[in-house]
Amino acid sequence: MAESTLSILLADLQKLQTDFNQALLQAEHELALEQVRVKFLSRQGLIPEFVKQIKNLAPEDKIKFGPQLQAFRQTSEQAYLARKDLLTIQATQINSQPVSFKNNFNHKTNNLNFKLDPTGELPNQQFGSLHPYTQVIEKLENIFISMGFRIAEGPELETEFNNFTALNIPDDHPARDSQDTFWLRLPQQLMRTQTSPVQIRELSKQELPVAVIAAGRAYRNEATDASHDFVFMQLEGLLVDKNISVANLLGTLKICLRAIFERDDLEIRVRPGFFPFVEPGLEIDMLCPFCTVGCSVCKRTRWVEIVGAGLVHPNVLKACGIDAQEYSGFAFGFGLTRLVMLKYGINDIRLLHSGKLDFLEQF
Ligand code: PHE
Repeated sequence: MAESTLSILLADLQKLQTDFNQALLQAEHELALEQVRVKFLSRQGLIPEFVKQIKNLAPEDKIKFGPQLQAFRQTSEQAYLARKDLLTIQATQINSQPVSFKNNFNHKTNNLNFKLDPTGELPNQQFGSLHPYTQVIEKLENIFISMGFRIAEGPELETEFNNFTALNIPDDHPARDSQDTFWLRLPQQLMRTQTSPVQIRELSKQELPVAVIAAGRAYRNEATDASHDFVFMQLEGLLVDKNISVANLLGTLKICLRAIFERDDLEIRVRPGFFPFVEPGLEIDMLCPFCTVGCSVCKRTRWVEIVGAGLVHPNVLKACGIDAQEYSGFAFGFGLTRLVMLKYGINDIRLLHSGKLDFLEQF
């Protein structure tokens, strides 16, 4: 019986030695080493607990087992102290040099005792850049906010009422056709074909006067090529108050285009245009910012088409419950995709929409 207790204890001791040595080697920083000390060496630790079992042994076994145990206890304490010294030396060496993350911050050792050098260079630095759309939208928003406009928003998934009906677009208008519009399987729901439904959303609040702009995506069911995509960006503008005229519209657009292209002499030209939700409807061109004699951008005409606009049609005001005798207003819709392509000289819309970093990083 005594013999078997002894052999069990000897086997346990062996295992304890192995476990301790392994734990010690794996402790690569002060905190881990302290955990080893608590687990094995402290008063309630595994080694002192083991020592207590000596008293259960027969006297002749005590004589055999006792010295082994004492020797192990001493060597384990010495090993612990040696390890502690080593880690302290390593930590001071690391602390005495500035640490660059890539070379010296060792995740494996998880050594948190490092000095941060804020002037150190990060390897392979990559800076983000704002998408050309974002840059132009932010600029436009700043210009319009400085003129007293507010930023509005509307959803891309719209109702037929907001996108067509309330905008005075008749039931049989070809734009409603599924060859042009992405209809959803839900009744009377579509992907907005223009940002103009934001006009309806804002006017329906009937908080007048209203002066808003709204930038966002619009969708049309068309094939993709260098200058068309089924999704593109527009910027809608709306101002409704008493006594608003075409003069207010043209003045506003001139200020805006000059600021965007950073040219005080940028001229605009006005042509009649037809949009069911404005009367009169206007197409506004600007003098080509890239040439003086005609170029490929302006197709040798010197004029670039950029905005659809007009005075808000009385039917639109009525559909939103506004007295069209008392109030009038203007609305415009920038082809924002076209504007961005013009401003940055991008000749293929697919590049703009590709999300390719090497292309986008140039802006
Ligand atoms: N929504 C029109 C379009 O997509 C542009 C526009 C907006 C025209 C506002 C007039 C007024 O072409």
